[in-house]
Amino acid sequence: MRNDVYRRPLNTALDRLGLREGWRCVDVGAGGGDVSVALAEVVGRDGRVYAVDSDPHARDQVAEVAAAHSQIVAITQQGEELLLPEPVDLAFCRFLLMHVIDPKVVLRRMGEAVRPLGWVVAQEPVTSAGRVDGRSLSMPDARHPDIGAHLPALVRDAGLEVVDAWAESQAGAGAGPVRDYLTHLTGVDPGDDSVVLPPLVTVVARRPSA
Ligand SMILES: C[S@@+](CC[C@H](N)C(=O)[O-])C[C@H]1O[C@@H](n2cnc3c(N)ncnc32)[C@H](O)[C@@H]1O
Repeated sequence: MRNDVYRRPLNTALDRLGLREGWRCVDVGAGGGDVSVALAEVVGRDGRVYAVDSDPHARDQVAEVAAAHSQIVAITQQGEELLLPEPVDLAFCRFLLMHVIDPKVVLRRMGEAVRPLGWVVAQEPVTSAGRVDGRSLSMPDARHPDIGAHLPALVRDAGLEVVDAWAESQAGAGAGPVRDYLTHLTGVDPGDDSVVLPPLVTVVARRPSA
């Protein structure tokens, strides 16, 4: 469901980046593997996608969705201790930094995982900017529910060069994927009210050359 409604910002980011066949990537906090599969479809069999998650169950989930993509390698690892067998062209995370203790530590590790001039892309929400019938959303379980609002500065302070940054969100009213996703996430059906899902802030950054 998350993939249905947040696929558009993911596509925007991959287009902006010019992700190509043969790239080596890491998807940190891969969860069920939606982003890993999207990356694998572009990089093809000559590329590689490391799907990293701290939860060992995620590895089984990724293994299932990745059955058709031998270029996906699932690894159980903390983003704070990210260590890959090779430098990658792209380190990506979505809906991860909002959950970790210190997002800057994870961003630094992502920067160290890419080759010099390699790419780091983070997509994180501004939860309280989401609206149901004009009222703000909240997410009490997340450590940093509004981290998207701080993302460009966090990425810069992690030693990366910010190339581009923007926000996107999906909206709707009544039946459809936006209502289904919100109901799934919050347990409350918004009915026919207008919903603006939390905007996702995307930051595209590069590791400096030296
Ligand atoms: C909300 S899910 C996002 C999944 C996926 N990125 C997506 O956008 O569909 C967050 C994932 O981050 C993982 N995670 C949380 N803290 C982590 C950490 N410190 N290191 C690596 N993964 C972590 C969780 O286990 C979970 O699978």
